[in-house]
Amino acid sequence: TRPLKVALLGCGVVGSEVARIMTTHADDLAARIGAPLELAGVAVRRPAKVREGIDPALVTTDATALVKRGDIDVVVEVIGGIEPARTLITTAFEHGASVVSANKALLAKDGAALHAAAQKHGADLYYEAAVAGAIPLIRPLRESLAGDKVNRVLGIVNGTTNFILDKMDSTGAGYQEALDEATALGYAEADPTADVEGFDAAAKAAILAGIAFHTRVRLDDVYREGMTEITAADFASAKAMGCTIKLLAICERAWDGGSVTARVHPAMLPLSHPLASVREAYNAVFVESDAAGQLMFYGPGAGGSPTASAVLGDLVAVCRNKLSEATGPGESAYTGLPVDGMGAV
Ligand code: HSE
Repeated sequence: TRPLKVALLGCGVVGSEVARIMTTHADDLAARIGAPLELAGVAVRRPAKVREGIDPALVTTDATALVKRGDIDVVVEVIGGIEPARTLITTAFEHGASVVSANKALLAKDGAALHAAAQKHGADLYYEAAVAGAIPLIRPLRESLAGDKVNRVLGIVNGTTNFILDKMDSTGAGYQEALDEATALGYAEADPTADVEGFDAAAKAAILAGIAFHTRVRLDDVYREGMTEITAADFASAKAMGCTIKLLAICERAWDGGSVTARVHPAMLPLSHPLASVREAYNAVFVESDAAGQLMFYGPGAGGSPTASAVLGDLVAVCRNKLSEATGPGESAYTGLPVDGMGAV
């Protein structure tokens, strides 16, 4: 069987781990897919920063030329942000490639248009890594639960803020002190706005709500409140009531089933709730459905290897689809349930 050609867009913490596992697990991946994978090109902004172990001959700064080559089977996009990622993904579809992406901001903003572009060109768009890192959520919601009716998705989908809140809870530290520790340990970025103001969690909530309820939910539809104003005194009050405080993403059907809402905000959780025991930078998501009842998904929501695990799982699935000349579920289940943009109270 001919090798399946993979183009990697971005070679940072996640991309370099994807490339490394593609090499070290090459035989296993080939066995699972039914054909070997070939890393055909790696597009980066700064070639000098590419880690050892990647053939320098594969490295290019011209991502557009790479996705336009025409012989690429799968493009793996791990550069993040809206542009140039959106144009590169669309161009990849136009040139016959399927796409695996970890880009939550882009999927939350333009998921519907990208799904339509994929469908038009008979390509796949998979993005398990965009929500909660290694934790399987997109595929369980899209496929395993496709015969059930999901009513609520409730979870901790941002590791940085969970780390900060956990520190505040367990040590009595204030917000700034806990943020400083998260920054020193490499959890929080130099500019932590996307995490602490809830934008990152809101993008993930939009993606989860869209898939869980078969409708289109954009970032702007998600009610959002950050966690920067929570104080040590709030934790003391929560504790006195047998609770802790978590930044939750909550996606649910309205009581009459006629619309859906998605929101992100800090919430008091009784210590007896399973989400209350999610420590450090871990993520966990509760799913409630008619037939299955309550399900909980738990694990590392960020980091090079965990995120690469999700990317590689998608890569295997997309390559299998390619070989059988099929495509995955895409947006075919779309029913258009209205989204209540105000968020439920
Ligand atoms: N900043 C994110 C988090 C990374 O802390 O969870 C994973 O999307």
